[in-house]
Parts: sequence; C-alpha cells; structure tokens
Amino acid sequence: MFRVFNFAAGPAMLPESVLVRAQQELLNWQDTGTSIMEIGHRTSNFQDMLKRLEVKLRKLIVIPDNYKVLFLAGGGQGHFSFIPMNLAGKNRDVDYLLSGTWSERAAKYAKRYANVNIVTTATASNIPDKSTWKLNPNAAYAYYCPNETINGIQFSEIPETAKVPLVADFTSSILSEPLDVTKFGLIFASAQKNLGVSGITLLIIRDDLLDQAQDITPEIFNYKLQAEQGSLLNTIPTVPTYMMDLMVDWLVEEQGGLAKIAEVNRRKVAKLYAAIDNSNGFYSNTVEAKFRSQINVPFNLPNDDLLKHFLVEAGQFGLAYLNGHKLVGGARASLYNAMPEAGVDKLVEFMQYFAKKYAF
Ligand SMILES: Cc1ncc(COP(=O)(O)O)c(C=O)c1O
Repeated sequence: MFRVFNFAAGPAMLPESVLVRAQQELLNWQDTGTSIMEIGHRTSNFQDMLKRLEVKLRKLIVIPDNYKVLFLAGGGQGHFSFIPMNLAGKNRDVDYLLSGTWSERAAKYAKRYANVNIVTTATASNIPDKSTWKLNPNAAYAYYCPNETINGIQFSEIPETAKVPLVADFTSSILSEPLDVTKFGLIFASAQKNLGVSGITLLIIRDDLLDQAQDITPEIFNYKLQAEQGSLLNTIPTVPTYMMDLMVDWLVEEQGGLAKIAEVNRRKVAKLYAAIDNSNGFYSNTVEAKFRSQINVPFNLPNDDLLKHFLVEAGQFGLAYLNGHKLVGGARASLYNAMPEAGVDKLVEFMQYFAKKYAF
C-alpha cells in the first residue's frame, strides 16, 4: 500500500496500526452493529469509552485527583479566548510569555477579556533569561506555550511562577515525554498532533480554578459546567474522541508509554539536528541549541530555488509535507510520536544526498 512519511505539523501522521484498527472497527464498533460515526454520545458504549479514556490518560500522564480532565471542542485557538473567560473572572490581570506565533495570538485574543501583561518576548533564536522576566505576583494566571510549532522554539524548563497558576498550550508537545502535571494550573492540547485527529481538545484543569468564569463565557466552554457534566453538556465530537482513545492505546500498548516514546523522540530529533549542523551550512537552523524545538524542526536552504527543488524531490522520495509554515517559509519537519525513526533516517539520507548534489 502507498504510504508516505508525513512530516506535516498537524493534522499529522497517524500510526498505521491505529488506522487499521479504525478501519476494522468502522462498520461494527464494539458489536453494536453500527459505526462510531453513527452512535449517540449518550449511549452506554460511548460513555464507557469516554470514562475509560479518562482513566487511561490519568494513568499514562499521572494526573492527580484534584485535576479534572475535559474533552472539549474549540481546537487550540478557541481556548485562547475561553481560558481568559474562565480564569480571569475576578482578577483581570494576566501574564503572558511570548515565544512565537501561538503564544502571541493567545495574548492578542486574551486582551479582549483581561488585562494582559507581557512577561517576556522571545527573539527568533532564544528566550530571554528569566532574570529579565516581568512576572506579576498577583496575576490570575501566567500563560506560555512550551513548544512553538511554527517558530521551532521550546522552553528548556517549566517557568517558575510561584503561587500564580501556570497555563500551558501543549498542543504540539503533549505525550511526547513525561509531564509533571502538578506544576500546572491548566494544560490544554488540540488533538491533531499526538492525540489523533482535529476536532477535540484535551484540557486538564486544577479544581480550585474552576469557579471563576466571566458571565460572557458560553456554557459549552464553561470549564466548570463541562466538568460537572463529564464533558457531555452538548454533543461531544465523538469520532475525534474515539481516535484519541486509539492513540492512547497505541502509545501504551505498542510504544510502552511516555518514558519509552521520549527516548525514541530524543534519538529522532538528535539525528535531524545533526544532519542540519553537519551540512557545512547548506541547511541552517538559527535557534540556540538550548531553545531548539524537540518536535518541530524548521530549517532553511541556501535559496528559494533550492527549497522548491528540495520539496519536490523529497516528495518523490516518499517524504511529504516538509514545507515550512506560510508565515516563516523555509522547510520544517515535525516529528510527532507517530513518525517512526525510520522516517527520520530516510529524511536524513535524503538531505545528505540533496546537499551533495546541489552544494556550490
Ligand atoms: C502550539 C499550538 N497552539 C495552538 C494551535 C492552534 O490549534 P487549532 O488549529 O486546533 O486551533 C496550534 C496549531 O497548530 C499549535 O501548534
């Protein structure tokens, strides 16, 4: 069967075994004689799956009992607005750390609902030292994006915000390595990278942050109301929830969990940066080593003409969607959990071949 290595930033590559399972179960899910696409979100089959998914996620990530796990619509960007609506009710002062496109957009949206203080702003190659950050000790929360998918910049450690609850957009980094949930007040991730397909957002929120939504908050995006209803206040995106369930099973049963997948992810990304850094400048990534994304690797070629050739020839080699985001151009390889190490090996082989062919 024709399958490429898909390096897209999301919607992204899915494990073949997950797709095969979805295919096998499509016409008759759990012996109901109907497909997951046709089944009600209030049936016992669906609700049991949702409950078991939560249990599996709690065990996999290690989510303490004083956190709620929600499955909501709105993608990532919806929650850029729903977060200030839900968390900045009583105290409207909020902190934002800007490290790239997604955190900038989150801050921009938050300005409609809260008083946004910019703590720090990253350059194209690094994040300023924490000694220069202007944190507000009275902020309702401090927001950051651990891994910026477009700019390829990653925080090298979790920001320390003392008593101020930390809110994190883990859309492109969730489940890529072990995570200490207790450091956060709220974690959210849109699903189309490591959690399956687009249409659902996983949101993990500490109980004490639940009861402060502004009146304007739409009911279905009111985290407290959704927590009370087990994420079933309205029709949940059923198929994306099911795909998340399959992804979690795959990660646990076939990959051995977070510590194991993290080892593979570290090897994959090390090979790719080595290929860039050892290319005598043919490929370049100017982010300082400490801040380089461990998941989304943007890189440039000597000129636009070579970039075009690179993308076309890579496609012929079975390496797809290596174009960078339209805002920054260049090339980018996203190495989510479903990208096998063999895919990175093939990319590195191709990059070396291409550089040799076209180096001046
Ligand atoms: C880190 C991050 N945050 C937010 C988003 C936006 O997610 P959505 O398109 O689901 O709104 C993306 C999308 O790629 C992302 O990478």
